[in-house]
Amino acid sequence: MTKAKAPRVPRHIAIVMDGNGRWAKARHRPRSFGHNAGRRAVRETIEACLREGVQVLTLFAFSSENWQRPQDEVGALMSLFVRALDKEVDELHGHGVRLRFIGELAAFDDALRERMQAAMERTAGNERLQVNIAVSYGGRWDIVQASRRVAAAVACGELRVDEIDEAALGQRMSLAGLPPLDLFIRTGGECRISNFLLWQVAYAELYFTDTLWPDFDQACLRRAIEDYARRERRYGRTGEQVANAS
Ligand code: FPP
Repeated sequence: MTKAKAPRVPRHIAIVMDGNGRWAKARHRPRSFGHNAGRRAVRETIEACLREGVQVLTLFAFSSENWQRPQDEVGALMSLFVRALDKEVDELHGHGVRLRFIGELAAFDDALRERMQAAMERTAGNERLQVNIAVSYGGRWDIVQASRRVAAAVACGELRVDEIDEAALGQRMSLAGLPPLDLFIRTGGECRISNFLLWQVAYAELYFTDTLWPDFDQACLRRAIEDYARRERRYGRTGEQVANAS
């Protein structure tokens, strides 16, 4: 019996970029050194997605919980984001990349928020690849903010209680309107979701690698995509049903 394989290239990939701190520690350098090196891996991954024809890439750059890290590390990450925005946006725009920031953007200072806003507006018309950067983001936060919007729609009479379904909530999540998440990658050896895209991960294929994020390159992404292409996605059906439907 031939089994239905996932389409060769995932439309939407999400990545938990873990391992910067350990990469730096192995080199007797501060954690911020690892985050800086992680920037190169972000560039490599975007280039690989452009080459492979991936439509959407969602990166976990800063979680709701990361605010609890030592103040100097948070500060170093903030200035890294500012530098990255100042330096990379022109090139990304030139490659047809649309940039979007998702998360509690109100938590950031005005200067950084304005840069994020400007980058989103500048690249809004691009269609080759959408890169979502999750900052001050948590999967639970996303579900809560979508629920609040559902409640507001009910309160103003736009939506009835019996109309609340998965679609009603899904349309109010941060990644609404984008292709569903196909492939969830986590680097750095831990096998957990860590409050990333909890709603969207429901039927995603999971891929965990020991590679530390600063060492992740185009060949690593290719391996993840090849692994994905060998998976059979059943969405609750039997293998036979899937094979007969394709
Ligand atoms: C997790 O590694 C990584 C982060 C919290 C920051 C991710 C940021 C980057 C990769 C910088 C570049 C990003 C953009 C969008 C320009 P960790 O510090 O938890 O590593 P550890 O598990 O080894 O301690």
